[in-house]
Amino acid sequence: MAVHDLHDGFGRSITYLRISVTDKCNYRCVYCMPEEGVAARGHDELLTAEEIARFVRLVANEGISRVRLTGGEPLVSHRIVPLVAALRAIPGIEDISLTTNGALLPHMAADLCEAGLDRVNISLDTLDAEQFSRITRLGRLEQALAGIDAALEYGFDPVKVNTVVVRRLQQDTFGLARLSVDRPVHVRFIEYMPIGNEETIGACKNEPHCPPGVSGSAPELHPEAWDASDIVPSDELRAQISAAGETAGIGPLLPVADGGPSGAGPAQYWRFAQAKGTVGFISAMSNHFCSRCNRLRLTADGTIRPCLFSDDEYPVREALRAGDDARVLEIYRSAIAHKPEEHDTTDGTARFMSQIGG
Ligand code: GTP
Ligand code: 5AD
Ligand code: SF4
Repeated sequence: MAVHDLHDGFGRSITYLRISVTDKCNYRCVYCMPEEGVAARGHDELLTAEEIARFVRLVANEGISRVRLTGGEPLVSHRIVPLVAALRAIPGIEDISLTTNGALLPHMAADLCEAGLDRVNISLDTLDAEQFSRITRLGRLEQALAGIDAALEYGFDPVKVNTVVVRRLQQDTFGLARLSVDRPVHVRFIEYMPIGNEETIGACKNEPHCPPGVSGSAPELHPEAWDASDIVPSDELRAQISAAGETAGIGPLLPVADGGPSGAGPAQYWRFAQAKGTVGFISAMSNHFCSRCNRLRLTADGTIRPCLFSDDEYPVREALRAGDDARVLEIYRSAIAHKPEEHDTTDGTARFMSQIGG
């Protein structure tokens, strides 16, 4: 039981902490990272598993009860299994989840399960093998599918799939939604968010073959050329998927009576009648959920970030390293007190998505 339940300046109760354990990733999704990856941080810049666990132990007393491990790709971090075990031992932490591209899950699911991980969310933007390789640059579709199978096999529950939707990618969203019919998976469609800025994600690195702008050989894979019309509002997508379901004889999408699978995030869930899983929508752009926001982020280099879209950050690494718990809590409370009421989604951010943790 938390000693305090911390509320921010707008009455929101902060119960969910997203921890990025590494900036690195074995993929290079076009909307998340530059092709050459991100500059490796020095080892001593990164929080150790012990430091992360120490931080969580402190904030569990302040109302945090759910923790999500993200990256980059959290499974490329050697510290991930011991970290899950350390978090599992912390009183007050009721839910430990992880967001992954799934590639390493078949090898690691057993150890993660034994360490006490509750559940996983797996990214899957397309069912077209060629498009999957083009979007992720280094990934193969069968890896993500094997990751989903492993998650189900090891009993993680619920298992969610994340699809970032971009209009000009013309993904087969109905095909993805249909995965929820035969398997207990929850397929969530996420409105693309313009994270990063012109100097980071926004600049084309492929000149002279692909000049900046839309004239490259595969302009649909250049986020610098994407604009507001590439964001597919959840309401529009839901209507489309629902209509496709009716045409295919399984649809329409129906509201989910109990709110959907357990979780702490912003998705709203629907389902096809008779389906084992659900279809969710995360409308970060068309329908801000800031007034319900319950979360805070901790970056791999030890900085508290109160809002995904705001570059206001509260460095906590030195205080953690010095063992100064009182100072850590002071910084934590200040970060919550300064959590913005809502985000401006148009300015971009100084960090890449992979450096924030999604
Ligand atoms: P659960 O519902 O608990 O399973 O988790 P989640 O949906 O919060 O986690 P996940 O890591 O799968 O995130 C899914 C998408 O939601 C990602 O694209 C995130 O960037 C987005 N998201 C999560 N938190 C926020 C947030 O605070 N603000 C915005 N705008 N998007 C968020
Ligand atoms: N907009 C929306 N979602 C994104 N993700 C990564 N980059 C973006 C973006 N720019 C998703 C990933 C992963 C989750 C953590 O965030 O696909 O599933
Ligand atoms: Fe890696 Fe996920 Fe970013 Fe893709 S979206 S590059 S899998 S962190």
